[in-house]
Amino acid sequence: MTQSLSAQTRARRTNGSYPERTYRTGRRHVLDLDDFSVEEIEEVFQNTDAMREVMNRDIKKVPTLRGKTVITLFTEASTRTRVSFEQAGKIMSADVINVSGSGSSVEKGESLYNTALTLQAMNADIIVIRHSHSGAPHFLARNLDACVINAGDGTHAHPTQTLLDMYTMRERFGRVEGLKVVIVGDILYSRVARSNLWGLTRMGAEVTLCAPPTLIPQDMLNGISEMDGHPFASVKIERDVEKALDGADVVYALRLQLERQRAGHLPSLREYSRTYGINPERLELAKPGALIMHPGPMNEGVEIDPDVAHGTRSVIEEQVTNGVAIRMALLYGVATPVREQLFRAERV
Ligand code: CP
Repeated sequence: MTQSLSAQTRARRTNGSYPERTYRTGRRHVLDLDDFSVEEIEEVFQNTDAMREVMNRDIKKVPTLRGKTVITLFTEASTRTRVSFEQAGKIMSADVINVSGSGSSVEKGESLYNTALTLQAMNADIIVIRHSHSGAPHFLARNLDACVINAGDGTHAHPTQTLLDMYTMRERFGRVEGLKVVIVGDILYSRVARSNLWGLTRMGAEVTLCAPPTLIPQDMLNGISEMDGHPFASVKIERDVEKALDGADVVYALRLQLERQRAGHLPSLREYSRTYGINPERLELAKPGALIMHPGPMNEGVEIDPDVAHGTRSVIEEQVTNGVAIRMALLYGVATPVREQLFRAERV
């Protein structure tokens, strides 16, 4: 029997650790990566390998999710995540219905709870949600019978992005463990950075965060994460981008959220770009085979130079392609009962 989310939360509170679960125990929700074990992440990657094979076929269609309804509820802008979930569902023959904030009753002031109940009443099997409020997917998971997948909530988490990022690293290097991954940019407000910290540290990567101090969480600046036993104890903070990039296997540029400048975190975009932007000269400091990654959308000329973004080391478009396969694997994982998964994974 699957442990409920609230039971997991209770377990965490009781023993202070994060319970290890495996994919085969039958996950119903994907809310963040803090409750994914190494084995479960590997399982997702193996299923993603199978999905990549499906995507490379002439006829990209399998009946895996026939009869299932997937609703994407996006109340915040998205191109990559929303379209890739839609494509993932359609390749696996699910009925995919897209609901956005604009044009829906959200505009009339309907609460998230009532919108979600309405969608569930239409027999949705899976609700994929992007929302500006951190915790919105967790709220739905607690209150709905449908499976819930977090497609990005506020400044909190973006687990499917992290899985596709790590899958892309694994595809290029054959592993994630031991890679030196340097994440440069707006760490403070980035849900991508937060989920990447969970995923990359769990998988044994050496993570360095690089940003101006105004864009690094205060507890990290204070060294709280260096405490023994803290999940992020191995994470390094480096304010000097040249030092951070030295010997990197992966340079991961984050979108500079332009509203941060208005909030007074930065003197000017030009200064940020001059001090932290990833340009060809800086990329030379990384290892010769280093990859350049970005979750998108990019501000070219601010956090990343166009020659780097579209250069030979960039795997940004591969990230997008792998995003479809990862989301196929996750939809399949939550929608398919465990006993079925054990033999269906072979013939998806
Ligand atoms: N990386 C990402 O979440 O992109 P979108 O906002 O386009 O979905």
